[in-house]
Amino acid sequence: MMKRTTVIALGFLFPFIFAVLPAFASELEKGKKIYADKRCGLCHVIAGKGGKMGPDLTDVGNQRDHDWLTKFLKNPKEVVPGAKMMAVKGSEEEIAALVDYMLSLKK
Ligand code: HEC
Repeated sequence: MMKRTTVIALGFLFPFIFAVLPAFASELEKGKKIYADKRCGLCHVIAGKGGKMGPDLTDVGNQRDHDWLTKFLKNPKEVVPGAKMMAVKGSEEEIAALVDYMLSLKK
């Protein structure tokens, strides 16, 4: 027999896992789709695919943090003086989804 407290804890945990994981996965899917829609791949490689004008983003999630990425995507020149990349045009929500996708890119 499982302990009553264990049963109660699991009862709380399961709905939480099923509510949060799909929400996070769909946020990543959204970011991925925006990445494709905005043609970021013309200049960036992810896992061997894409253009070479910009840096390889395959493990950008290891290199940069949330704040850096958010600032950079909104206004590259503010973070990297003389940056050639143009600011990403999109809503706060779209930028946030892109940043979450970037952060998921790790080796
Ligand atoms: C016209 C080419 C081009 C396109 C399109 C482009 N980028 Fe870039 N990106 C660059 C270049 C070049 C850099 C290096 C910094 C600079 O000179 O601007 C860069 C840098 C970055 C960096 C910082 C990498 C690092 O760790 O220093 C991220 C993140 C990034 N781009 C994401 C994106 C995303 C997301 C998109 C699509 C919304 C995108 N880029 C579209 C050219 C591009």
